[in-house]
Amino acid sequence: MVDRTRLRGLLARERATFAERHPASAAAYHRAEHLFGRVPMTWMNKNAAGFPIYLHSARGARVTDIDGHWYLDLSLGDTGAMAGHSPEPVVAAVHRRLAELGGASAMLPTEDAEVVGAELARRFGLPRWSFALTATDANRWAIRLLRAVTGRPRILVNSYCYHGSVDESLIVVGPDGRPHSRDGNVGAPCDVTGTSRVAEFNDLVGLERELAHGDVAAVLMEPALTNIGIVLPEPGYLAGVRELTRRHGAYLINDETHTFSAGPGGATAAWGLKPDVVTIGKAIGGGVPVAAYGLTGELAATLIDRDDLDLVDMGGVGGTLAGNALSLAAARATLAEVLTGEAFAGMITVATAFAEGVTKIIQGYGLPWSVCQLGARVEYRFASPAPRTGGESAACADAELEDYLHVYLANRGILLTPFHNMALMCPRTGPDDVARHHEVFGAALAELVG
Ligand SMILES: Cc1ncc(COP(=O)(O)O)c(C=O)c1O
Repeated sequence: MVDRTRLRGLLARERATFAERHPASAAAYHRAEHLFGRVPMTWMNKNAAGFPIYLHSARGARVTDIDGHWYLDLSLGDTGAMAGHSPEPVVAAVHRRLAELGGASAMLPTEDAEVVGAELARRFGLPRWSFALTATDANRWAIRLLRAVTGRPRILVNSYCYHGSVDESLIVVGPDGRPHSRDGNVGAPCDVTGTSRVAEFNDLVGLERELAHGDVAAVLMEPALTNIGIVLPEPGYLAGVRELTRRHGAYLINDETHTFSAGPGGATAAWGLKPDVVTIGKAIGGGVPVAAYGLTGELAATLIDRDDLDLVDMGGVGGTLAGNALSLAAARATLAEVLTGEAFAGMITVATAFAEGVTKIIQGYGLPWSVCQLGARVEYRFASPAPRTGGESAACADAELEDYLHVYLANRGILLTPFHNMALMCPRTGPDDVARHHEVFGAALAELVG
């Protein structure tokens, strides 16, 4: 459907326009001699245009860059800013803690922590919570605890999952149907096929085959894959996972870091799931680093009673800044006043309009693409019907096409997440924003195939 020569020509034109429109960002990037890869974090080199846009300011669903352009931000920090940029209740809570009271990180608990724990318990149905600063750490610590409780060595994940830079999760089902280390796995401490097992999402037969080895401490999964496009669970799949994990004595961790977009209690509440552990990060701090994991009462009691586990010092679970006063003040304000049930209802309505419009435009051009919605999160993939597994979704990636759409949108004031084609709605994203996106997206497709 897509003429590659035409696509390459359009991509080159859009990149040239981008370079012309962003002289200040280009200069900042080329000046950054003291940064590894010229960026504060190497993944910021994942950009479609050749260098990143430099942030100047951000509020709600808008960001401005140092070249003086403003953008509708549909990336929202890849979920870190799902509450919108700098929401007022979070700014007030952070200001109070940092400037008025003082003590961002004093190694002492604050009363905010119990309030946040109680709210997470209400939303996700698990009674005991602990905090981290990143979802990666929440996952790392959760899997350590579950290995300790079960005495089993392995973790099972879905092929093409992403749970942060967790060693055990960098495994895929290869073309030969066997487990393989994920391509590009940096400095793995050991062969991941020795620490992990893997099954495709939506594949209960594969899951049961792997669990039957009897060495899996926990299945770490997203209730819908979100990091290889969105792959939704088929009817009965998640119930099957729960049944199989119970039958084979493995715990179930729902990583809700992105699937939180499904509603105020994530997919866990929206779909009535009963995991043993929930991990979550990013959005719950309203932009301030904080993450959390929640445990069943039974698990928490068993772990606390274990004298052989060092949970208070150097036993491998914990971080000095985890649970700090600043991040918990931000999380309390985010949950109580920003990412409320009412806010989610509005975000999901806007996302539904976004998904319907994108579907209509794609169909109008007869493109064999699909659109998936997960609450406030929408994504299109270059395959139809929508991929059922991570492997299928990885197979339909098209970097050139993705880059073209991303730069085209950026040149006209719209940011998608730099990873695949995800658009996320925050409480301040509105129908006018959706209309503007559709106008530009339609124009990009008209130039490509019209
Ligand atoms: C599902 C999921 N879990 C965990 C993480 C890791 O989050 P962080 O980068 O904050 O550690 C991510 C990041 O994208 C994620 O998508």
